[in-house]
Amino acid sequence: MPDPRPIAILGGTGPAGMGLALRWARVGETVILGSRDAQRAKEAAEKIKQKTGSESRVSGMENSAACAAADLLVLTVPFEGQAALLKQLKPAIRAGSILIDATVALAASVGGRASRTLGVWQGSAAQQAAELVPKGVSVVAAFHNLSAELLNGDEDLDCDVIVCSDDANAIHVCRALAARIPGVRAIDGGKLENARVLEQITALLIGLNIRHKGHGGIRITGLPPEAYR
Ligand SMILES: NC(=O)c1ccc[n+]([C@@H]2O[C@H](COP(=O)([O-])OP(=O)(O)OC[C@H]3O[C@@H](n4cnc5c(N)ncnc54)[C@H](OP(=O)(O)O)[C@@H]3O)[C@@H](O)[C@H]2O)c1
Repeated sequence: MPDPRPIAILGGTGPAGMGLALRWARVGETVILGSRDAQRAKEAAEKIKQKTGSESRVSGMENSAACAAADLLVLTVPFEGQAALLKQLKPAIRAGSILIDATVALAASVGGRASRTLGVWQGSAAQQAAELVPKGVSVVAAFHNLSAELLNGDEDLDCDVIVCSDDANAIHVCRALAARIPGVRAIDGGKLENARVLEQITALLIGLNIRHKGHGGIRITGLPPEAYR
């Protein structure tokens, strides 16, 4: 069943945001693509609709308007823009919102390699986000290890999504959203501090993709069945 709440994807015009939007729109979720530019957001929404049909519930808005229109937020911006954008959006983020952060602090943000991460004072990009959102907003780390290339395709994904947060309800909401993506199993990954491991795995996957010319993902084995539900 689709979540009755709209999902606003901030920085949703890039490959990661567009891929998530496509997958959620296909299964009937209501998606708002956010951008620094309202026109770019609208054009991106049209591109999704060309693939999912005119009936699908996808729209585009400037990022702060998207925050005002939803309390389920997904952040898909490059690390170099994450802090400034969150500071700018702080007044627009609604009390009680859930912010799912997929940002990876790749060294590419400062001209380094995409297969390395930067040291972030707080421990990870998601923990940095948690310091920047308004009080009472729950931050979740998820979707770091899903290939945007595959998300934007038509095949089921062969990948698990590990979901980390200090708020158990936010983990529950995010796991349900992740599980709407065909082929994805969503696993409770514990506290938000574990986001630093998820981000490191992305750097490893990028390195593997370069070495082996593929689109690698991860599967966690050996947990009891309820861990994957
Ligand atoms: N690509 C992947 O396979 C993948 C997978 C998992 C996680 N991630 C992570 O998800 C995030 C997004 O990845 P992506 O490949 O979609 O990135 P991207 O294309 O570089 O950026 C996504 C969007 O962010 C906005 N943006 C760019 N620079 C910005 C800035 N300085 N301030 C505010 N907004 C800015 C742009 O939208 P507007 O210009 O329209 O505002 C852009 O379309 C990254 O942190 C990445 O590490 C990526």
